[in-house]
Amino acid sequence: MAAARWVVVVAVAVTAAVALDNGVARTPPMGWLHWERFLCGTDCAAEPDRCVSERLFAEMADVMVAEGWKEAGYEFVCIDDCWMAPTRDEQGRLRADPRRFPSGIRALADYGLKLGIYSDVGNRTCAGFPGSYGHYELDAQTFASWGVDLLKFDGCNVGSLGLLAEGYRNMSLALNKTGRPIVYSCEWPFYLRPVQQPNYTEIKQYCNQWRNFYDVYDSWNSIKSIVEWTALHQDSIVKIAGPGGWNDPDMATLRGIFLFLSQLVIGNFGLSWEQAVTQMAMWAIMAAPLFMSNDLRHMKPEAKWLLQNREVIAINQDPLGKQGYRITKDKNFELWERPLSNRAYAVAVLNQQEIGGPQNFTFSLTFLGNGLACNPACCIQQVLPSSVDWGVHNWLSSLSVEVNPTGTVLLKVVPL
Ligand code: GLA
Repeated sequence: MAAARWVVVVAVAVTAAVALDNGVARTPPMGWLHWERFLCGTDCAAEPDRCVSERLFAEMADVMVAEGWKEAGYEFVCIDDCWMAPTRDEQGRLRADPRRFPSGIRALADYGLKLGIYSDVGNRTCAGFPGSYGHYELDAQTFASWGVDLLKFDGCNVGSLGLLAEGYRNMSLALNKTGRPIVYSCEWPFYLRPVQQPNYTEIKQYCNQWRNFYDVYDSWNSIKSIVEWTALHQDSIVKIAGPGGWNDPDMATLRGIFLFLSQLVIGNFGLSWEQAVTQMAMWAIMAAPLFMSNDLRHMKPEAKWLLQNREVIAINQDPLGKQGYRITKDKNFELWERPLSNRAYAVAVLNQQEIGGPQNFTFSLTFLGNGLACNPACCIQQVLPSSVDWGVHNWLSSLSVEVNPTGTVLLKVVPL
C-alpha cells in the first residue's frame, strides 16, 4: 500500500506543471464579461442600454450585488474590447473613450466588484482599437493604477509567432512587476495552434487561464463543438489544468438562462433549456472559468436558478482543481467524470441525439474513477437538471440514466 501511494505521488509530480506564481485563480475565476452579448456597440445615442459604456458595467455590477450573483461567487465584472479611445494620451497611456466612460475606469474599479479589462498583444485589438504592442510595462502600470484585477489579453494583429509568444510572456512579467495581483487571461494557444503545437507547460507559467478554441457563440453548434474539441484534445490539456491555471472554453450564454474567457451564454437567445443545462454541467466538469455573457438586468428565473446553482458551482470550484475528461462515447451518449476532493467524482451523461425524445444510458459504476469512485459503495446525488437524491449504490450495480436530447444529467458520486 505504501509503495502504491508512492507511485501515485511520483506520477502527479511528473505531470503537474508549475503555475503562474501570482497567488490568484486558485479555483476557476467567476464573473461577467460583456463580449458575447454586447459585442462592440459604441453608439450610445442610439442604444444607451447596450453600448459599451460605464453605464453598462455599473448597471451589471449593481445587479450582481443586488440579485445574489456576487454572493454565488461571480466576483468579476469584465470589460472586453472597444472600451478605449481611438488614440493614446500625450504620455502614451491608454485611455477610455471619454464619451462612453466619462468617469474613467478607476471609478468602475472602485465600484465594489473586481474589475476586468481587455487589451491585445499586437498593435491593434481585434476590433481595431489601440493594442499594447511596445507598451506592455506602461499598460500594466496603468491598469494596476486604476485598480484592475483581471486582464484579458487578446492575440490579434501581431507580426509573428515569435512576437506573439514574447508579448504574452512580457505582459505577464509586467503585470507581476506592478505588485498588484491581477488574473492574466490569455488567448495564446488559440492563436498558436493553427501553426504550432502549444507548449502548455510554458503557457501555464505565464497565464492564469488560456483560450484554446474559437469564440463561443449563442448556439448549440458552438457549445457542442467546444465540448467535442475539448474531448479530442484531453490527453494534452486536462493534465495541465489546476490551481492557478485553467483551460478556458469561453463564456456562458443561457436564454434568460444561457451561459465559456470561458463565457457562459446562458440567459441569451440561442440555447434551449436542455442545452443551457449541458453548458453549465460541462463547464463544471471542465473546471472552466465561469464568465457569463448575458443581460443580468433581464434574466428569466430558470436561467438565474441554473447559473446560481450552488451544487454545480461547488463542482466547478472544487478545491482539488482537477479538470474532468470524457471516459467513453457510445453512439449518442457521452460519459464524463471529474475527480473531486474527498475522493468524490462529478459525472456527466450527455445525450447528443437531436431527434426523438428522452433516451436511457446504462453503465456500470465500475466505469467510474478507474473502479474506485463507488468502491465498495457510494451515495449518488443528481445535481442537474434538478436536485434528486439517488441513495446508496454498491460497486457492482449499474445506473440507468434518462437524458433528454442535447441535455445532460450531472451527478455527484461520493464513496462510502
Ligand atoms: C477576439 C476574442 C473575443 C473577443 C473579441 C473582441 O475575437 O477571441 O473573445 O475578445 O476578439 O474583439
